[in-house]
Amino acid sequence: MCNLKDHLKKAREAKIAIGHFNISNVETLWAIFDAARALGQPVIIGVSEGERNFIGVRQAASLVQSLRNEFDYPIFINADHTHDFEGVKKAIDLGFDSVMIDGSQLLFDENVALTKKCVAYAKDVKKKEGRTVLVEAELGYIGTSSTVLDTIPDGAGADMTPPDVAGRFVEMTGVDLFAPSVGNIHGIVTSGNPHIDVKRVKDIAETADCHLVLHGGSGIGDEDIRGGIRAGISVVHVNTEVRVAFREGLEKGLKEDATVAPYKYMDKARKSVYDLVYKKIQLFANFS
Ligand code: 13P
Repeated sequence: MCNLKDHLKKAREAKIAIGHFNISNVETLWAIFDAARALGQPVIIGVSEGERNFIGVRQAASLVQSLRNEFDYPIFINADHTHDFEGVKKAIDLGFDSVMIDGSQLLFDENVALTKKCVAYAKDVKKKEGRTVLVEAELGYIGTSSTVLDTIPDGAGADMTPPDVAGRFVEMTGVDLFAPSVGNIHGIVTSGNPHIDVKRVKDIAETADCHLVLHGGSGIGDEDIRGGIRAGISVVHVNTEVRVAFREGLEKGLKEDATVAPYKYMDKARKSVYDLVYKKIQLFANFS
């Protein structure tokens, strides 16, 4: 079966993006997997440090691998927003397909040094075990919370990533994936999400020799997403909208059914996430 690197290459050539959706539980995982499978698209499951500690790091990896093996399906797992080398090493050792080292709040040189260390470790694993683990890094602060916000957090998105600096960073670190700040913000901003600077995405795609990732996909309008993908984005991350869909579905399930059986009331949460992810994948894969 093709690995994540192959699927990213295919997505880029087709000018579409692979959806990356975060999970905190198995119900959400099934919803995402079912939606991706219904549309025949590869999908990436993201687990941040908090999410994977809640599920269990090894258990999160095993769950995704079990779906991939049982259904012979391109579903991958990413150690999203990992802040230290030890976390990256652990995820790589446990079989994650990709790791995101988040040094976005460090100084440029510190971010470069930390990222290089992670890339070197992934390369070493490739040499010793033949396993490909992709490394992603971020440059530019875009906030940290996948939640519903009244306003944009202080400083988030203020300094968008300059294309020449992006090119330099990617060359210096050798990352496979790069997450820039291009107007995207983590979370849904109820007072209005900023727009994507599509021209900047295009310029970064020309200078940075790797796949581009759009974080903070929640709350961004469909046209902005389409423009970003056409300009060179290969992966779009969505978390807050998944969380909102899960909660709304769960509340509905609890209200409409007095059952105490979790598999009954949780089913509404699963359906609610499925519907959201189905629409997002249609958008990212350019289904008309
Ligand atoms: P949102 O919560 O804005 O969708 O961002 C998610 C994300 O980028 C996870 O890495």
